[in-house]
Amino acid sequence: MSIGNSKLAVIGAGAVGSSVAYAAMLRGTARTIALYDVKKAKVDAEVLDLAHGSPLASGARIIGGDDISCVAGADVVVITAGAAQKPGQTRLDLAGVNVGILRSLMPQLLEQAPDAVYVLVTNPCDVLTVAAQEISGLPRGRVFASGTVLDSSRLRWQIASALEVSPRSVHATIIGEHGDSEFGLWSTATIGQVPLRECHGEHGLIDFTDDVLDELGREVAQAAYTVIKGKGATNLAIGVSAARIAEAVLRDEHAVLPVSTVLEDYKGISGVAMSIPSVVGIRGVVRVLDIPMEDKELARLHASADALRAVQADLGL
Ligand code: LAC
Repeated sequence: MSIGNSKLAVIGAGAVGSSVAYAAMLRGTARTIALYDVKKAKVDAEVLDLAHGSPLASGARIIGGDDISCVAGADVVVITAGAAQKPGQTRLDLAGVNVGILRSLMPQLLEQAPDAVYVLVTNPCDVLTVAAQEISGLPRGRVFASGTVLDSSRLRWQIASALEVSPRSVHATIIGEHGDSEFGLWSTATIGQVPLRECHGEHGLIDFTDDVLDELGREVAQAAYTVIKGKGATNLAIGVSAARIAEAVLRDEHAVLPVSTVLEDYKGISGVAMSIPSVVGIRGVVRVLDIPMEDKELARLHASADALRAVQADLGL
């Protein structure tokens, strides 16, 4: 597949799915963008609305509808279909209903796009990644979740704002569950080449102690709740996050992104999907990086795994 005939399929034409398709159209993520949903009137309107703007954006071919054959031959399939968090709900609260939807959806998608890389966005995306990998039997690298790509972007924005530097020069990552047990990797975070803990801002007014950083991490973990409380859902930032991930696949970038894959004996953790910086290319996750971690960080990673494993146990995963 060359970028010229690349195809991205987005499953679910709700706020998130439409935002993924919109971000992909603006960024030129793929030559063809297909949007699928069971709600015909809704998906037809979203496809039309996107197509109307396409000539002024990347010119991507916009197709879609309620016939799943629109997904045929996709190189990347981004799954956003399912129940979304309501104010006060955690992502893990959605596990039962959304795993149920996935059990019905995944076989149909595989029939249309057997060679695709599958990216789970629907929450809880980590638990759904374990389910999707089991249902599909695909290699672990070809079924992963957007995970903490979004959370890490939120963190980079927070730190960049505090330090008055470009977010692109903030190399800081949130790892673990895409959810309440996520945490920041402070020991290896840098601003340019300077360790984050040694940065003090333009006027030396900021001291990034671990307490300050942990508070920052808590704000990031709460960010979605804040947005949901104000506008009912998050969609714009996750839309661009998913488009960015799809690009890393379609362009075979071998980019390092904190996506969530089913771990196998990663620092003693197996059988759960969590976000760890990983190399992403044409076949999905090429490898998960062995990140040096302090004891406290390792303990938090295991705690995050335990939180996910408890939900998976309830679902027989
Ligand atoms: C959020 C959703 C995508 O964090 O989980 O905004």
